[in-house]
Amino acid sequence: MSRPRLYSGMQPSADSLQIGNYIGALIQWRDLQEAYEAFFSVVDLHALTQPNDPEELRQQTRRTAAQYIAAGIEPSKSTLYVQSQVPAHAQLQWVLSTMTGFGEASRMTQFKDKSHRYGADKTNVGLFTYPILMAADILLYQTDIVPVGDDQKQHVELTRDLAERFNGRYGETFRIPMPVIQRDTARIYDLQNPLAKMSKSAESDAGVVWMLDDPSVSAKKIMRAVTDSEGSVRFDKENKPGVSNLLVIYAALTGRQIPSIEDEYAGRGYGDFKKGLAEVVVEEFGPVRARALELLDDPAELDRILASNAARASEVAEKTLDDVYAKVGLLR
Ligand code: AMP
Ligand code: TRP
Repeated sequence: MSRPRLYSGMQPSADSLQIGNYIGALIQWRDLQEAYEAFFSVVDLHALTQPNDPEELRQQTRRTAAQYIAAGIEPSKSTLYVQSQVPAHAQLQWVLSTMTGFGEASRMTQFKDKSHRYGADKTNVGLFTYPILMAADILLYQTDIVPVGDDQKQHVELTRDLAERFNGRYGETFRIPMPVIQRDTARIYDLQNPLAKMSKSAESDAGVVWMLDDPSVSAKKIMRAVTDSEGSVRFDKENKPGVSNLLVIYAALTGRQIPSIEDEYAGRGYGDFKKGLAEVVVEEFGPVRARALELLDDPAELDRILASNAARASEVAEKTLDDVYAKVGLLR
């Protein structure tokens, strides 16, 4: 029996991922790669929708891939590749774009938010068609499940609509993918502003813990995390968002339950608790960082791994694309 297929990806939009990416995505991907035949991409074509320095984008693409591997995604077990190295993504996107309604694409909330934020002058058409490229990513691999954050749910729903529309018009072609939305307990907030999601694009650096930061820098950020004046280590998301966020990070990285951590720190101050968490973070990310830096030290070898994974991805993707081209009436 072949395993069900899983697809996910991240944009190479920073030099380092942050621990929200690690807890909310990478460690779940790592665990899922056993039961699923998994495809993980670094979506560099999507990253082109933002202004980029070309050399920097290339570096960030390698760095993102290196962090996938360092976090435990095994390129011999899962297919870990760079989106632009499989031309079928852009090719399928074109076909799907001819089947997407203008109004339908206009309703995507991420596009509405971004275009509103940047203003009409700085909004490119790529931002508008971004979800259609994402649909192509997913559909090329006959994907069963797509683990993503809830901000991406609408894009996976569009993907399902497009797949159903295509199948309805041309006969069974695409498997209909299911979104698997990240658990609430896997959402990490900014250490300085615990009401905002921790993000690669945060305005201030102080609230973001980077996977590739020197461990002493991460430890300092945790010691300075915003808490409250109550002084007790207790999960209460509403009234104690800062402390609750630290508890979620602690639990996610140790595999422990929150009540057991609360018990351990009962009657002790925030200083002790933060010191404990800083140690957990240093212990977790020390080896991950070392492994990522080691991979980045040998870019030729890393590029070789990515190229062979892209070839594997292409084999699957080309089959789907060929079927689609034939069905829509392109000369084969
Ligand atoms: P992004 O960096 O926003 O492109 O996100 C890439 C992946 O990491 C998505 O699956 C997100 O859901 C996940 N992710 C990003 N930030 C966080 C966060 N603060 N907490 C949990 N997951 C996150
Ligand atoms: N748009 C996704 C994000 O910003 C990244 C992405 C691109 C993706 N293609 C995908 C995620 C396909 C899942 C499946 O997080």
